[in-house]
Amino acid sequence: MPTVRDLRAKAGAEPITMLTAYDAPTAAVVDEAGVDVILVGDSLGNTSLGYETTLPVTVDDMARHTAAVARSTDDALVVADMPFLSIGVDEAASVENAGRMLKEADAHAVKLECGPHTVDLTEKLVRLGIPVMAHLGLTPQHVNQYGGYPRQGTDQDGAERILELAEAHEAAGAFSLVLEHVPSNLAADVTAALDIPTIGIGAGPDCDGQVLVVDDAIGLSEWSPSFSKQFGNVREEMESAVGEYVSAVESGEFPADEHSHEESDLEDIY
Ligand code: KIV
Ligand code: NA
Repeated sequence: MPTVRDLRAKAGAEPITMLTAYDAPTAAVVDEAGVDVILVGDSLGNTSLGYETTLPVTVDDMARHTAAVARSTDDALVVADMPFLSIGVDEAASVENAGRMLKEADAHAVKLECGPHTVDLTEKLVRLGIPVMAHLGLTPQHVNQYGGYPRQGTDQDGAERILELAEAHEAAGAFSLVLEHVPSNLAADVTAALDIPTIGIGAGPDCDGQVLVVDDAIGLSEWSPSFSKQFGNVREEMESAVGEYVSAVESGEFPADEHSHEESDLEDIY
């Protein structure tokens, strides 16, 4: 079984790889490729559920998709993202919602979009046996506060706040930290200051690992952020396959004899 301790042991020695996945076949491919961590991100809302933001994603959505991913994953650590307002409002509800990801959905850990309100909660969850991946920098659940998705930690105060919160979450027991869309030199400083691994997205080359949204990495997304990289053309491949199917049915080329079951020797019934 993959563990959060393996991840800590790898940090600094070798780059940590993390990708998102939201369904069983994608998780199987990602796991087979040897990715260390599969994040069932609440980016599910954008990638798979057709929402404009992650805000409408529910705990039920996350539990269902995390369970699908976990069923297809043998080697990677499975981390479930906690959706908007599922944590941080009330401690008992936060514990119950995070607990569902382990009890019901077979995740190994949860990820929290962090702020001053998640330090005590991180400590509580870790004490109860729920490993916590922290997430600082750009936290997309704050889209309405930001008015978009701007880079974070770009001024001295903002950078110091991120470093302080990173240290507070490490002290509270988080096993790793995602840094999203922050200056590379800030990510390097945070990585140097912490013992736990940092995993960057739009945070430069000096984190202990990297994460991307799988739809962006394989070229399935219609749009992806500039800090992401497209390693394939899955959308074009799908468009071409679906287009060929439509033409083949319309032209009568499909199904051909080899796709058809032999006729039975029943007498005609009509
Ligand atoms: O939801 C998500 O995919 C994430 C990653 C981008 C870190 O939070
Ligand atoms: Na997320």
